[in-house]
Amino acid sequence: MASTFRIAVFASGQGSNFQTLVEATQNGRIDAEIVLLVCDKAKAPVVERANKAGIDSYVFDPKAYAKREDYELEIAAELERKQVDLVVLAGYMRLLTPVLVDRYTGRMINIHPSLLPAFPGKDAIGQAWEYGVKTTGITVHLVDGGMDTGAVIAQKAVEIRNEDSLESLEEKIHAAEKELYPEVVSWFAKELIHVEGRKVSVMQ
Ligand code: GAR
Repeated sequence: MASTFRIAVFASGQGSNFQTLVEATQNGRIDAEIVLLVCDKAKAPVVERANKAGIDSYVFDPKAYAKREDYELEIAAELERKQVDLVVLAGYMRLLTPVLVDRYTGRMINIHPSLLPAFPGKDAIGQAWEYGVKTTGITVHLVDGGMDTGAVIAQKAVEIRNEDSLESLEEKIHAAEKELYPEVVSWFAKELIHVEGRKVSVMQ
């Protein structure tokens, strides 16, 4: 029997994407196990979600460390202990250093709520709304050393219509995320992803 594909999710806040991924592993949409939540905020609702799902969490306080590399070394040790195959960033609001990025090159992904390279960084939905674009969307990409700059794996467009508000746009974006992210993670679990430089293809 093939061994289970092991995932760690990093998140900082609500964890609605985390929840969707947990459910997708439970209902078979993703053939893998989430073995760890990594969170930088003890009081984030995502920690409670992990507890409820019986998933181990590694919660740390970034302020307790002199520099990012120090806590990332501890996270790296935890990921190794758990024999993690894929790191999935789901609303993890911190830039990563080479300590983690170099260890998980090609095995670390992020979801961002815009069609990159438009609107990187914080509050991407608000940025797109303020700019007045007619089409925005979501991007799943490999993580590299930059801010939302890694090779694109998949994107989904979301239209902004006259009748939309910022709130309705947020809802549409979050709904799109819940469709796309489990699908992309399932491709990794099935080892369908092929990377050549910035060109990522899915062998279906
Ligand atoms: C998601 O919309 C995700 O795309 C975004 O944070 C939200 C987390 O929601 N990530 C970024 O903006 C990363 N730059 P969640 O905690 O409910 O999953």
